[in-house]
Amino acid sequence: MAGINLRVAFSPQRAILLCIAGVFLVARAAGRCHVNKLAIVGAGMVGEAAAQIIAREELCRELVLMDVQGELAQGKALDMWQAAVESGSDTRVYGGAKAEMLDGAELVVITAGVPRKPGQSRQDVLSINLPIIDSIMADIKHHAPTATVLVVSNPVDVLTYRAWSLSGQGRSKVFGQAGVLDTARMKCFIAEQTGFSARDITALVLGGHGDSMVPLMRYCQIGSVPLSHFLSSEQIEQIVERTRKGGGEILGLKKLGSACDAPGVAIAQMVDAIANGRNRILPAVAILEGEYGRTDIAMGVPCVLAGEGLAQVIELPLDAQEQAMFDQSADQVARDIAEMKAL
Ligand SMILES: NC(=O)c1ccc[n+]([C@@H]2O[C@H](COP(=O)([O-])OP(=O)(O)OC[C@H]3O[C@@H](n4cnc5c(N)ncnc54)[C@H](O)[C@@H]3O)[C@@H](O)[C@H]2O)c1
Repeated sequence: MAGINLRVAFSPQRAILLCIAGVFLVARAAGRCHVNKLAIVGAGMVGEAAAQIIAREELCRELVLMDVQGELAQGKALDMWQAAVESGSDTRVYGGAKAEMLDGAELVVITAGVPRKPGQSRQDVLSINLPIIDSIMADIKHHAPTATVLVVSNPVDVLTYRAWSLSGQGRSKVFGQAGVLDTARMKCFIAEQTGFSARDITALVLGGHGDSMVPLMRYCQIGSVPLSHFLSSEQIEQIVERTRKGGGEILGLKKLGSACDAPGVAIAQMVDAIANGRNRILPAVAILEGEYGRTDIAMGVPCVLAGEGLAQVIELPLDAQEQAMFDQSADQVARDIAEMKAL
């Protein structure tokens, strides 16, 4: 019996099948991500959380963690690389402080800068984070001038605008993360209130990140059933308020650091949409070119994220109340941008 098994194991047909399977596996691995080199600038809590997922999910071949604290970034990168290998990923992670590490990066995520402290608003950290963004954008322009840039540092609407205006690139290449996180927060609170699976919940938010967020509740559904079928308007309003203050709630409890895990997942989702050219509709902080009646501003709006970056801004028809809320939020962001320009 053993002889028969051996003959089957080494038969020419089997060898050919094994070769085909090997070629298929190599091709599949090679086709898993379209981003060769991705850099995360700012290896703090949020950058680390995002990097861990990106490395494990093999969303790029090379992942650079850059931070002014070079050894910290190096240490985190080594640890992360080893964790990725254990998860079956071939993404190579390395870290350091040198701007040259950005050379050839196709996608750069900016998570550098201070988070707010309990009691502070996102705008309160602008004066510290603005020069940080300026110096990082100078590095990106020098080392990776055509990279797609995803801004996460707060105040994210204002800093996305700043990064875009310094980049010299179109809006498809520079945008920010806010709405994916705000939407996730809202889904949690809806799931908690209704008891239904968060998998079946869809939610949509526009506008500025945080307090001036504009929830579009008529687009919120559970299993295609409008949310208003399950919850009263008072309950919905409580969920909206808690979502607006979602970051502050976590900060107040943690005290020494702001949210990082959910922001990390939000970043990874956007990176995945770009790396895999998924054409996903996700909220992003985008430069508006007349959509929703606004220009020269960065606001959270639904977008199509694809291989080239932000492929399209989706302009939804708003009713009078929604447009009024959007205008109020846009006015606030416009004031914040004006304050930034005056610094
Ligand atoms: N947009 C969002 O949804 C969202 C969510 C959470 C946090 N944030 C923001 O992300 C930023 C980072 O938060 P965190 O909790 O990771 O902070 P953190 O303090 O843990 O990490 C920030 C890191 O940035 C590094 N850094 C500072 N200046 C730098 C520079 N010039 N170049 C490279 N690295 C530099 C610091 O050394 C530090 O390691 C904050 O501004 C926070 O408010 C945004």
